[in-house]
Parts: sequence; structure tokens; C-alpha cells
Amino acid sequence: MDYQSLLQEIRTYGSKGWAIVYGVSGAGEYERAAGGAWITGHKGKRFLDCGSFALFMFGHGNSKILTALQDLLSDGLSGTSRVLCHAELAVALESLVALAPSHLQKAMFLNSGSEAVEAAIKLCRLKTKRKKLAHLSGSYHGKTAGALSLTDHAGFKADAHPLLQDVVRIERENAIELETALATGDIAGLFVEAVQGEGGIHPVEPAFLQTAYKLCRQYGTLLVADEIQSGLGRTGRLWAFERSNIEPDIVLAGKSLGGGIVPVSALIASESAFSPFDHNPYLHSSTYGGNPLACRTVIAVTEIAQAKNFLPDVEQKGAWIESALEHLHNQFSDVLSACTGFGLMRGLHFSSNIYAATTLEYCLKTGLLLSPCLSNPTVLRLVPPYCLERSDVDYMHGVLQQALHHCRTLQESS
Ligand SMILES: Cc1ncc(COP(=O)(O)O)c(C=O)c1O
Repeated sequence: MDYQSLLQEIRTYGSKGWAIVYGVSGAGEYERAAGGAWITGHKGKRFLDCGSFALFMFGHGNSKILTALQDLLSDGLSGTSRVLCHAELAVALESLVALAPSHLQKAMFLNSGSEAVEAAIKLCRLKTKRKKLAHLSGSYHGKTAGALSLTDHAGFKADAHPLLQDVVRIERENAIELETALATGDIAGLFVEAVQGEGGIHPVEPAFLQTAYKLCRQYGTLLVADEIQSGLGRTGRLWAFERSNIEPDIVLAGKSLGGGIVPVSALIASESAFSPFDHNPYLHSSTYGGNPLACRTVIAVTEIAQAKNFLPDVEQKGAWIESALEHLHNQFSDVLSACTGFGLMRGLHFSSNIYAATTLEYCLKTGLLLSPCLSNPTVLRLVPPYCLERSDVDYMHGVLQQALHHCRTLQESS
């Protein structure tokens, strides 16, 4: 199918809006094949994938994950009756809990990040018998009704009201505001991202997270670390909250957990926080949650993440990127005002929305995928897979250099 016909089908049978977005962002090609850190379009153009909304931490078509899935299918088990249990579930639960800090001993599988957030909302309320929930400014927790209630984005919420009542928004890093809210003793759960993704790759101050942790303990609020974007090694630690030495009661994983192939997310919790779901499994369930394909993927992903050289590899590649970005920032500080983040989760902060949009488009046309930040139009995300090579970082640096130069030329000519 040619590109225009494909867009026409999407426009006719799907969202016209998506057809417009793909028309602008597709660089005239749709994706046809992918391997490692590269995607190939239907006409053969190649794109280095530093975008994809942080989905491909383990690379495109990771052979370990694909083999695990093929083995499962050829073994004869492709789905689950949900009446009988299956071995994949037991092994996946054990593997994921083993990857989590030792105070977290229970897990449950769902299908998307937002769904894991919904499960956490319910668990906080069931466990504490309180109704109120709190989140930080700049947060993104998803777009289902509950998750959207905890997302700090007026535009996404517009006309979707009424969402959840009893939600408190706390200014990020304002410990006084946080204490005032928690001291009321009626907040069930505080949701945090240790490194905010969609909000603009903003690492939340460790001192603030430690205060939040202590206050949650003091006032009986459950602390929920949303690691859907930052988890599974993306920041150079298995979990981004580990930089802050805190022990969240509930941790959420998604995106990378499915290897970019199978939709799967997870809620991981302490035995105590998990107790309502322990006592009554029907309080939260999902027909496809924890299906054999998802579980086999989780097993493969946790094996990769546990390998001795995985985190050092992420650190090494993160350091290459950091020095490339530092160089660009020094050269173009009028356009690129700051670079933030850790490991393979980096934010490029521009001095205007226009520069961010121009850079995104220029890179796309040249063969470099970046992701916008859904809640912060001045920031672009650089979230590549860990199989990135030194030559890929040089390529990324070269394309970004041209894009920033292009922005400067536009500025000078306006
Ligand atoms: C931190 C965080 N939480 C939740 C979500 C929602 O995940 P999903 O899009 O899979 O529902 C996202 C998605 O970007 C996210 O970054």
C-alpha cells in the first residue's frame, strides 16, 4: 500500500486526527521493518530510534524475546482459559518480584500502563479505607479516567469531567505543601514518578522523595512509584526511585516490560499493601492480564535486565549521550537551553516551543526519531534502546547538530 492510501484509510476508518499527525510526522514513510536501534520505512529509509515513547529499551526484535515467544507458541500454549492456571504465570511473577527491591514481594499483571495505575488507585483505597489521592505537578500517569485524574494536563482533561473527585495536586518539590496535605490523614496514596517523563524528563529531587517517603509512613499514605516509563534500567538503575533510597509500597511497570512487542504492565507491592488483592482476587482482574505470551515476555525481559553487564552497558551508553548533548548545549545554548535525565532517558530543553517542534521535524526527515513530551512542548525526549552503538550516538549527534543549526538560521532570518 502506498503512503497516501494508508493515511486515507486511517482518516476514513479511524481518527482523522491521527491521519494528520502521521501525515506530518511520518516523513513520507510508514514503518515496515525494525531491528536493534533502527527502523526501516516501506521505501527503505532508515531511522535511528531514539523516540518510540520509551518503548524499546531492549531494542526492536530482540532475539531473546522473539525466541521465547516462538518457543511458547510451538510448545502449543498460546492463550489461557483463566479457569486453569499456567506455568508461565508462576515463573513470570517470581522473576519480576526477584527484580524488585526485597521489600516488594507480590505482583499482578495487567495490559497497559494506565491499567496498572487504575489497579494501584483501587489498591490504595482498599488498603487504607481512604478516598483521596495525591499526585505531583508535572505528572503523567495515563489517560483512563482514574489515571487521567492524577495527570497534570488540563488539555487532556478538558471536557472529560467529572473525573475522580478527591484528588490533590501537590507542587513538585514543595515539602510544606505535601506535609499539609498528608497531615490531614485522609490521603490513600501519593503517586510519583522519580523521573517525570511526559512532564519534561524532570528528575524529582531525591531529598523531596525522601521527605515524601517519611511523610507517607508517618501519616499512613501509600507511596506509589510509577516506573512505567523510567523502570527496568532506563535511567541506569533498575528502578529510578533507587537513586533516592526510598521504599515505595507499590511500584508500577509497563512499556519496556513488554519488550515493545506484547502489551503487559505490572503492579508490584509489599505484602502488606497487596493484602486486599490477596484476600479477594476478584477485586481486580483482567481477562488478558498475565496471559502466557505476556508472561513469557516478562520472563525474557527480566533475564536480560538481570544480566551482569546490562546496567553498566546502560550507564556507558548514557555517558556517551551525555557528552554528545553537553557538546551540543555548549555550541547552541541559545536554542538548546538545558539537557536533563540519566542513562537512556534524556530531555532536550529548548528555549522555545518552535525550536522543539522544528528540531523534531528536522530529525524525523533526516532519519532520527525523537519523542515529544506530551505535557511539555519545549522538551524533546531521547529514549533509545540499550543496544545503541557508539556509531549511532555519533549519528544522533550529527543530526541534532544540523537541526540546531537549522533552528539558529531560522532565528537569524526572522
Ligand atoms: C509514567 C507513566 N505512567 C503511565 C503511563 C500510561 O501508560 P499507557 O500509555 O501504557 O497506558 C505512561 C505512558 O506514557 C507513563 O509514562
